[in-house]
Amino acid sequence: MILVSNREPYMHSMQPDGIRCEMPAGGLVSALEPIARGCGGTWIAHGSGSADRETVDANDRLRVPPGEPSYTLRRVWLSEEEEKGYYLGYANESLWPLCHNAFVRPVFRQQDWEHYRTVNARFADAVAQEARSEAPMVIVQDYHFALLPRMIRERLPNATIVTFWHIPWPNAEVFGICPHAAELLDGLLGSDIIGFQVPLFRINLIDCVERTLESRVSREDWSVRYGGKTSRNCTYPISIAWPARSEPVAVPALSARKSLDMKADAKLILAVGRLDYTKGIPEFLAAFEDLLLRYPEWRGRIHLYYVAAPSRGGVESYRNLRRQCLKISAAINARFETEDYKPLQFMDEHFARDDLRALYREADICAVPSLHDGMNLVAKEFVAERENSDGVLILSRFAGAAQELPEALAVNPFDIAQLASTLKAALEMPLVEQGERMHRMRETVRNKNIYRWAGRMLEDAVRLRSRKRLLKVRTAAQERGRRRNLRTQPDPATLNRARNDANTPDP
Ligand code: F6P
Repeated sequence: MILVSNREPYMHSMQPDGIRCEMPAGGLVSALEPIARGCGGTWIAHGSGSADRETVDANDRLRVPPGEPSYTLRRVWLSEEEEKGYYLGYANESLWPLCHNAFVRPVFRQQDWEHYRTVNARFADAVAQEARSEAPMVIVQDYHFALLPRMIRERLPNATIVTFWHIPWPNAEVFGICPHAAELLDGLLGSDIIGFQVPLFRINLIDCVERTLESRVSREDWSVRYGGKTSRNCTYPISIAWPARSEPVAVPALSARKSLDMKADAKLILAVGRLDYTKGIPEFLAAFEDLLLRYPEWRGRIHLYYVAAPSRGGVESYRNLRRQCLKISAAINARFETEDYKPLQFMDEHFARDDLRALYREADICAVPSLHDGMNLVAKEFVAERENSDGVLILSRFAGAAQELPEALAVNPFDIAQLASTLKAALEMPLVEQGERMHRMRETVRNKNIYRWAGRMLEDAVRLRSRKRLLKVRTAAQERGRRRNLRTQPDPATLNRARNDANTPDP
């Protein structure tokens, strides 16, 4: 199996005390890593760490995870200019805003598009180099690689290619503004299976294909027949690895309660996410402020701890967002702070997994206020850590996770007043109700975990592969039969002569 993603699971960086290995923030890596460990094989990704070149062999490979290697990481190198055009530019300034209803206008630069194409082709070459057979199973991840499936297909016609699109897929009208709509769809349809988080995204894709390409689509089995080949569109909601029973959390180096100097009976609201304009951070900060304003009885008794991992700092809208969040946070603190009360702490830092686990356990409420989100794994991670089945999850209606977790308190993050009153309802929710809701959510996340996600996807891919193999055998048999018939049939000249002889009357 070959996995392809832009982000690598292990990144080496040069630090004053030597080389450090880190796992980057974000749902994709945390979800896929346990699968890669379990399946072995090769994970191809962009080598973006400052010490990545120092830690690979002559073929740009290394065995990971460090200390207990079970699969190969193959790094692909990009120049600064390519990274800027393909990753910051086309992936994150064109496709990201195009696919999310956050009302940030996508920018399409011809040069970014060219870099996107070049980088996709480089990854296709890497897949061809890493393939150990002429029919490997290749799992392509996300919007960085819409062109890659077709490019792999050109190099390895018999590969089984599954593409999983982690983010939303826009409706046909929105997608129609993209100058490269047809090329993107053509690229993607090189896949045998295209996977989405929720059913709506695959409906959107089918609509887009129908409007853009000369093709035949079916809404019965969600397939597209295009260029003599069929692609299937399926829904596989991504998830997390359920923690092993009572997997101990390392002694928490970090305590939000301590750092906010909270009173014993004060409540802790936690929010975690990348510093991204789709995550609804300013909206949630505004709702927190609204709550303190409208319900003064809660002042001094609630605290917000916001973990916003820095992300895509090379894009201006992300830098602006960081400034905006720091400004709002400082203003809220200045407004409500007293000698012994600090309402909120905004941490624009990357947190280690164990620290996050400790925070999930400490919190009374976890808020996921995304404006639009393919799935959102923070919601599932919080649920997984609540072993006592207490705590409240506030979850945006516009995150894919909301479809699987109806027991969470659903919010429209654009509606600040509603967000604030939901926060109040969460603070006042009786323990029994918390338990009932959390218990059900825990059942869901435990059952629909990442192994089930991968299992369903791979099962479909394997079934398709054996169907393709059978078809190939049958076609070859038919071809052999046809040739045999041709050989046993007289040649046309002999046949004509025989016909003429037959028509000539006997003397
Ligand atoms: O949600 C989309 C996504 O690409 C995830 O798949 C990934 O975990 C996250 O964004 C991180 O983004 P980046 O790789 O740009 O830091």
